[in-house]
Amino acid sequence: MQGPIGVFDSGFGGLTVLKSIAAKLPQYDYLYLGDNARAPYGSRSFETVYQYTLECVKYLFSQGCPLVILACNTASAKALRTIQQHDLAKIAPQNRVLGVIRPTTERVGEISQGKHVGVLGTRGTVQSESYVVEVHKFFPEVTISQEACPMWVPLIENNEHESPGASYFIEQHIKSLLEKDPQIDTIILGCTHYPLLKNQIEQFLSNKIQVLAQGDLVANSLVDYLQRHPEMETRLSKNGTFRFETTDDSNAFDEMGSRFFGQPIQSKTIHLPV
Ligand code: DGL
Repeated sequence: MQGPIGVFDSGFGGLTVLKSIAAKLPQYDYLYLGDNARAPYGSRSFETVYQYTLECVKYLFSQGCPLVILACNTASAKALRTIQQHDLAKIAPQNRVLGVIRPTTERVGEISQGKHVGVLGTRGTVQSESYVVEVHKFFPEVTISQEACPMWVPLIENNEHESPGASYFIEQHIKSLLEKDPQIDTIILGCTHYPLLKNQIEQFLSNKIQVLAQGDLVANSLVDYLQRHPEMETRLSKNGTFRFETTDDSNAFDEMGSRFFGQPIQSKTIHLPV
């Protein structure tokens, strides 16, 4: 039995990743799940993020997805390893769950010329230290500084991210990050919501600093993964379709989600746990 690639986020952010993945791999079917009813995850405890993420992964498996991408840094930081090492063997040993942190950290040391990298993320992602640990595994010579931006996801989810109020919070965190390390030349948008803020973020940066969204990095890494894992590739259905589901109101999801995805979407509300 073949099935779609599951793509999960706490809300809309993962749509920025799905957009890049689908551009590179248009032949596959995709099932996107946004847990909007419980978003944001960013400031929730380790245990809560893990439980919520596990429920969503189980749901995507129940819908026939052999492979699930956690297109959410917070879930990748706080739940991915436990799911891979503890739960998968019990719930679906043949299935796989991948995250967004590894594809970013394994490349960033080559992208940063000066080897000074900044990470912007949710409080949960920053506190987990996942970026620091993972970047140093691949590039011990890189200096890495982090900044938690707890207001940014709520601003985006409430469609207030282009307001003057949002500018205040964006500037505040960019300044704070650059004070931690004025030599930063590459900034990772370590939250899949943040690509929507890319232009505003760049307004507060010199053009010597590059801002890295994760979509293309994750998409390239998935292309590579599927080449190395033909046993998974053959389990993926290939009709080029999209299905969008949310745990909250579907009209609100369609309106906001279309901005993240860059084209109109039509979602369905589902209830968890199944
Ligand atoms: N999009 C998410 C991330 O990449 C989660 C944001 C949130 O729910 O706080 O971290």
